[in-house]
Amino acid sequence: MHIHAYEKLWLAASILLILLLIGSVTYGAVGPGVAMVADSEQPVDAQALDEDERFSEPRVEQVGENEYAAYIVAYQFGFEPSPIVVPENSTVTFYVTSRDVIHGFEVVGTNANTMVVPGEVSDLTVEVEEPQEYGLICNEYCGAGHHVMEGKVHVVSQAEFEERNGGGDGA
Ligand code: CUA
Repeated sequence: MHIHAYEKLWLAASILLILLLIGSVTYGAVGPGVAMVADSEQPVDAQALDEDERFSEPRVEQVGENEYAAYIVAYQFGFEPSPIVVPENSTVTFYVTSRDVIHGFEVVGTNANTMVVPGEVSDLTVEVEEPQEYGLICNEYCGAGHHVMEGKVHVVSQAEFEERNGGGDGA
């Protein structure tokens, strides 16, 4: 059977496109920085957050020289703690879970944004700079009070942070 040269060319081009498509989908799924909620965290019992050492007392604690962990519980209809107070010029990892239904956790005006799923822990790490107040909103419809579900993230000076945390003996 004779195959025309143009036909071979089109065949080769379409196979190449298919391979590029598969390649880009694969890269999108496993590429750097791409993770699903709870990929890296131990699940929690949403019914028993009171007994979980991370979430029984939602808080911000120091975990390294300039590193902080913020344990946040989302609920109908708010966030705990609120405000979430973190010190300037630090790296903060938010660990967020829900006590009831699916919520969102979005620091307004930034790209810090994650879904919050009961039984799972979402984590995201941000670099914070100067003192500033940020709004915090829920961007997943979660019930009648969804539109009033909000919190605050306050980035404060080191001095103020230590004052609020009783001397800053975090870690
Ligand atoms: Cu919580 Cu919408």
